[in-house]
Amino acid sequence: MTALAIPGLDSAPTTHQRLLEWVHEVAELTTPDRVVWADGSDEEWDRLTKKLVDAGTFTPLKQKPNSFWAASDPGDVARVEERTFICSVDPDDAGPTNNWTDPAEMKATMTELYRGCMRGRTMYVIPFCMGPLEAEKPMLGVEITDSEYVVVSMRVMTRMGSKALAKFGEDADFVPCLHSVGAPLDEGQQDVAWPANETKYISHFPETREIWSYGSGYGGNALLGKKCYSLRIASVIGRDEGWLAEHMLILKLISPENKVYYIAAAFPSACGKTNLAMLEPTIPGWKVETLGDDIAWMRFGEDGRLYAVNPEAGFFGVAPGTDWHTNPNAMRTIERGNTVFTNVALTDNGDIWWEGMGEPPAHLTSWKKQDWTPDSDEPSSHPNSRYCTPMAQCPILAPEWDDPKGVPISAIFFGGRRKDTIPLVTESRDWNHGTFMGATLSSETTAAAKGKVGVVRRDPMAMLPFIGYNAADYFAHWIATGKRADANKLPKIFYVNWFRRGPENQFLWPGFGENSRVLKWAIERIEGKAAAQETPIGYVPTLDDIDTEGLDASRADLEAVLKVDREEWLAEIPLIEEWFDKMGEKLPTSLRDELEALKQRLSA
Ligand code: GDP
Ligand code: PGA
Ligand code: MN
Repeated sequence: MTALAIPGLDSAPTTHQRLLEWVHEVAELTTPDRVVWADGSDEEWDRLTKKLVDAGTFTPLKQKPNSFWAASDPGDVARVEERTFICSVDPDDAGPTNNWTDPAEMKATMTELYRGCMRGRTMYVIPFCMGPLEAEKPMLGVEITDSEYVVVSMRVMTRMGSKALAKFGEDADFVPCLHSVGAPLDEGQQDVAWPANETKYISHFPETREIWSYGSGYGGNALLGKKCYSLRIASVIGRDEGWLAEHMLILKLISPENKVYYIAAAFPSACGKTNLAMLEPTIPGWKVETLGDDIAWMRFGEDGRLYAVNPEAGFFGVAPGTDWHTNPNAMRTIERGNTVFTNVALTDNGDIWWEGMGEPPAHLTSWKKQDWTPDSDEPSSHPNSRYCTPMAQCPILAPEWDDPKGVPISAIFFGGRRKDTIPLVTESRDWNHGTFMGATLSSETTAAAKGKVGVVRRDPMAMLPFIGYNAADYFAHWIATGKRADANKLPKIFYVNWFRRGPENQFLWPGFGENSRVLKWAIERIEGKAAAQETPIGYVPTLDDIDTEGLDASRADLEAVLKVDREEWLAEIPLIEEWFDKMGEKLPTSLRDELEALKQRLSA
């Protein structure tokens, strides 16, 4: 290795050869002023948060301990799907749903962007581990970044620093994740509060298991352990090794008889995962504990059941709509401090505020750093504003959350945001039918990704932006997974929709804590205790089958939310056909068969 005169470069706390070589290579290309290996210590947190305060990126909150308010560049507020690339060697391996670029071409383009891009900045090397450190094979990664915001956020979201590096030894496998905000500083040049670049690339190299990200500081684009590693790259590893990397929360449901059930649920971004994961049941005797709010890795255990592990260590939750009524456990979690808030509003007494928190204060500083009053035309907080908070602070965290074995899943929920057609809950007929439900899942787009909001699109398994390979191959992987275990050991699959609306555009279902009624019905179905109606789309409860005691909703609304509307479903069929046609030749025939069977049942 050539000796580069960059302070810190040669003080690496590791002898891992491949890691050292890669760090040198990146430093040579990006020419930072110094290199710092992140250790994850409290001292480091204090040093970096202070640096962020001095830079104007963070404002310390007076009302929450060790917590900070950040406002991003208004052009850097969400994931950028049109700038996200799967760079497989063969375009067919990226499939019909991903943006593809030849890996050599992408690397050539991005190498030129990275050249000198860290000038005037510090290059941080963050060793991290997704999932428990004590796993038989810890899932390691290293993120190189020039953003302090990323380092402190990674500390919340992952197991990182010295404790992760200790797992590297001399030659452990790891996923190299390169990130730059793409904003080099010339000598004497004043930095901005949120450095970013208008040119953005979020690139994945599935064969070599690498991630290259450029130009954005926002969560999903910049915290590369999250969607990039734990979903896009992990889905490829899971396909090759026979497991599933899914966009799912993991919750533990405890019945009044103290029986424990684990449920995983996939909803698209900003469609209710974090809220369901921390739900406070409204029905007496039932309890929920949280294991994860965004990602689940699921492998078969020796007993033939599917076990889920959450790779993350923090919550990156949607702020608006979160309050003491809808999600008291999220509120308790952030109350404990150690939280980074991005693009919410700042109150005059140094606290945070966002839409959905009740009566607005008379004056706020908006996420755009402008004066805001209740008369303002725009919301005070960006609809995709976020809190980034340690899972360990969640008051209902399940004690087994860090168990490398994971937890056995009894039920999988797929859900989306649909104002019509999709009933509150539908139980699938079997695994293949459940896979069909997942594969044809649809949802209205949200502010979590750049682009138009409220447009219905297919979002298979809530994974449309996160499948790291060909979506049709991914469906085949799901079908194959169902063949690898006894049918009675597989989780039962349900399709839910908390967002159906009535004629006045009102939500027909009160949602949030009341969703416990749906969880209860699902578990009672598994136990063979609850009734349901067989319909063309699957098993749907009648009003008598669901516990509605004490529920504040009109009978008409409840009937409407459970309705299987043949007309609406007939209108859905061509959309599913169009979607399946897009999948091409590789679409598993069993899914085509499911569609034909659905059409027949609808016309019978
Ligand atoms: P995630 O991105 O999938 O984790 O979604 P969140 O749980 O953060 O929720 C996204 C948005 O949907 C927030 O504004 C929530 O308040 C809202 N939300 C979540 N669950 C429900 C529900 O059951 N009913 C309704 N109407 N809104 C919900
Ligand atoms: P979520 O994830 O909205 O699914 O919680 C964050 C993101 O979109 O980057
Ligand atoms: Mn979430």
